[in-house]
Amino acid sequence: MQYFQIIGGQPLSGEVAVSGSKNAALPIMAASILAEGPVRLERVPRLTDVETLSLVLGELGVAVRRDEDDSSLWIETVDHNPVHADYELVRRMRASFCVLGPLLARRGRAVVSLPGGCNIGTRPVDLHLAGLEALGASIRLEAGYVYAETSRLVGATVPMSGPFGPSVTGTANLLSAAVLAKGQTVITSAAREPEIADLGEFLIAMGAEIIGLGTSTIEIHGVDGLSAVGYQVIPDRIEAATLLTAAAITGGQATVRDAKPAHLTAVLQVLSDMGADVHAVGDTVTIKLQRRPRPVHLTAQPYPGVPTDLQSQLMALAALADGESVVTDAVFPDRFLHAAELNRLGARIQRRGSTATINGVDRLTGTTVMASDLRASAALLLAGLAARGETIVNRIYHLDRGYERLDEKLAGLGAQIRRCETDQRESTLPSRVASQPDDVRSA
Ligand code: EPU
Repeated sequence: MQYFQIIGGQPLSGEVAVSGSKNAALPIMAASILAEGPVRLERVPRLTDVETLSLVLGELGVAVRRDEDDSSLWIETVDHNPVHADYELVRRMRASFCVLGPLLARRGRAVVSLPGGCNIGTRPVDLHLAGLEALGASIRLEAGYVYAETSRLVGATVPMSGPFGPSVTGTANLLSAAVLAKGQTVITSAAREPEIADLGEFLIAMGAEIIGLGTSTIEIHGVDGLSAVGYQVIPDRIEAATLLTAAAITGGQATVRDAKPAHLTAVLQVLSDMGADVHAVGDTVTIKLQRRPRPVHLTAQPYPGVPTDLQSQLMALAALADGESVVTDAVFPDRFLHAAELNRLGARIQRRGSTATINGVDRLTGTTVMASDLRASAALLLAGLAARGETIVNRIYHLDRGYERLDEKLAGLGAQIRRCETDQRESTLPSRVASQPDDVRSA
């Protein structure tokens, strides 16, 4: 198993490029099931989650191949018959559930495992299922699997709002199903996340008729078929913001390029409120924070709010603020496993329900910590970069699920970070996916 050894205290500086968005690439890969012919996707990050979804697609008769020269991913259906997405893969990555809508729309049948439990809180899929039923699918749950069937989906008005806001992958499933439904579908309270708009743009490029992307009402006029296409995935806004926060937490400066600043408005405001100089020009964002951060009050919310996927990283920054910060997660009220680990590094964080109160300290001190999920690992890494002395971050397979070479990118900015092996035998297993331990269940 691998871990990071970090020697903290070094202000980062330099320039770094953002990779393609994980949470856009995954539903777009799943929606490639809808295409007649080969789809070529550019800027798909090299991540364990992308490998996992490639395996799921492989079992569904969809070949996925990476073009090593230009990092494009080629996706092509070679067998339209399989409809079974197995528990063994779906439980490792919830985004695998995004194959449900495309399978149903294109093949008329789907048998997809329920994703199961998760380290960041309860994550039901009732909205996905109710939405597909509203389009006329017959759905039953049996032995942990969703059995869905239709002769042809029929457009309807489908609400996507749950108790904590719209479901992101629920909107993706509905959108990818409705494009081939008969007539008009209106998704109300739809997720407005840029990753959903990107999925919609991909579907439009294939011939779908969709209006209202990026708003909470999406209208879809069903078409009879979708053609093959080449498409470039948007930059990863969560990675961009994680890199900016890394520069800030070390009292450094950095320029993040190939980003899309318009997707970062809320988080750039938070970083600026915390005392950072932030400038966005074209596709670059530059940050400099050469004083102790100011405390902050923030609530993670659906887009365009501050993303829950950045709550832990911003909490790490707030841990060093000059005063008391309050961080609430309104999307995943239980997403606080990182708080106790940050406290092991010397932070003073107290959680009550969906809110954490952070009493800023003037220094963190390195020790051994354990990552519990993807974004928690990023937060621990950032805290380790700021902490005095050596920090060991264990269970970094969580990080590799969703950040492309984050350690190398940080090292390029001057961070002292080393990827180490505890167990050579495990690390030489052929597939990183096969060697993932059982607690890999978040993004
Ligand atoms: N919810 C329901 N019913 C549903 C679906 C969701 O009540 O049927 C609730 C959830 O319990 C949660 C809230 O709605 O409280 C939001 O969940 P959502 O369905 O939007 O989350 P998701 O689609 O499963 C995606 C991202 C997550 C990100 C969330 C919120 C992907 C592959 N995953 O998950 O990303 O945190 O939206 O923005 O897009 C990550 O990348 O680290 C990650 C966890």
